[in-house]
Amino acid sequence: MKALEGVKILDFTHVQSGPTCTQLLAWFGADVIKVERPGEGDITRGQLRDIPGVDSLYFTMLNHNKRSITLDTKNPEGKKVLEQLVKICDVMVENFAPGALDRMGFSWARIQELNPRIILASIKGFGPGPYEDCKVYENVAQCTGGAASTTGFRDGPPLVTGAQIGDSGTGLHLALGIVTALFQRTNTGRGQRVTAAMQDGVLNLCRVKLRDQQRLARGPLTEYSQYGEGVPFGDAVPRAGNDSGGGQPGRILKCKGWETDPNAYIYFITQAPVWEKICDVIGKPGWKTDPEYAKPAARLPKLNHIFETIEEWTKTKTKFEVMEILNNYDIPCGPILSMKELAEEPSLRDTGTIVEVDHPTRGKYLSVGNPIKLSDSPADVTRSPLLGEHTEEILRQVLGYSDADVRRVESSGAVGQLASHAAAQ
Ligand code: COA
Repeated sequence: MKALEGVKILDFTHVQSGPTCTQLLAWFGADVIKVERPGEGDITRGQLRDIPGVDSLYFTMLNHNKRSITLDTKNPEGKKVLEQLVKICDVMVENFAPGALDRMGFSWARIQELNPRIILASIKGFGPGPYEDCKVYENVAQCTGGAASTTGFRDGPPLVTGAQIGDSGTGLHLALGIVTALFQRTNTGRGQRVTAAMQDGVLNLCRVKLRDQQRLARGPLTEYSQYGEGVPFGDAVPRAGNDSGGGQPGRILKCKGWETDPNAYIYFITQAPVWEKICDVIGKPGWKTDPEYAKPAARLPKLNHIFETIEEWTKTKTKFEVMEILNNYDIPCGPILSMKELAEEPSLRDTGTIVEVDHPTRGKYLSVGNPIKLSDSPADVTRSPLLGEHTEEILRQVLGYSDADVRRVESSGAVGQLASHAAAQ
């Protein structure tokens, strides 16, 4: 049995943020029914396509373990089908633009009327306030949630990060809200609204920067490189390059091969408790007792020189050699692993964090499996559904439609052409 077995999710999500949430719930065992517009479906099916006519990797990697029903919810028959799905599902998840669900005739009041036990979970770009009506994508959230202003180098522009903290990050937040609401429902018997705004999700992940904003009012941020360089602070938390956020000075340093390999680098942290070991490893034992280097506070103004010296050592070794040597001394470090290296890493395949999935029209492809491991509910990754692949199955098995019902809905245009009929033609 899977952790969420028996939980039915009406998945009205699209693009990235919502689908990451429902994919997680599917991996935990929920029955996720993805509702898509006939013809086109989730817009990502066709975005960044690498094989003509085949669902994109963007789509397949965000929609594993789901069933797909095509439904035009603006068609009266389609609306009826949606109402029936609302009545029998435990959770409805959506990430439409603000107001879209209401315009479709599915206000929270109406949804509760149909099913008082249902949990309605929504992702929006912003919470209530001046921007609540805005449409939002990943990088908008990174910029408005504090990530971009604090990422990058001081003398460069704000930077977005490749980690999709706005979309996938908020999807994770929403998933937690949903399972929490399901838990509360076991006591109250009632559903509730769960909302996660992308701005809030990003800000939550940037918590340490709001910490520093307040520390700044009391004086310079001494662990930031710019302190050691004598550059004064302004009134907002600056971009900190590769400084670590935890107060232990850290930098990304070149390793052997950096001239030709863009990823021949390692993250090196000069953690105070292992300073003496660092001095030995890099061939500077004298620094252990030298008052200019022995104590963390004395080192702060000299971080550039210290890291340049360490880099002279890291440049003589590959990033993997550096990692092996440092870990012998419990000195934390992190080689910069490329996507290629991660895709080929056997241990990630062994744990199911990287999985190979077979798809009927695409063939085999790699994806990221469930990063959250439950010992009693392991996640088996199954391929994403073709558009409308399960329409008939859902009408018949989930909603109990008869042949006549199915014919009526199909002829109304509400579900598009059923896969069995398309195949027969
Ligand atoms: N049947 C009929 N109509 C459907 C439908 C279906 N199955 N599915 C969607 N629609 C309609 C919606 O009702 C809406 O119609 P309306 O504008 O006439 O009311 C329309 O399709 C478009 O929906 P919308 O959400 O506005 O899509 P968009 O492509 O214009 O905007 C986003 C995309 C992501 C910007 C927007 O959905 C958004 O801001 N979402 C919230 C934040 C978010 O999750 N962003 C990150 C996405 S990764």
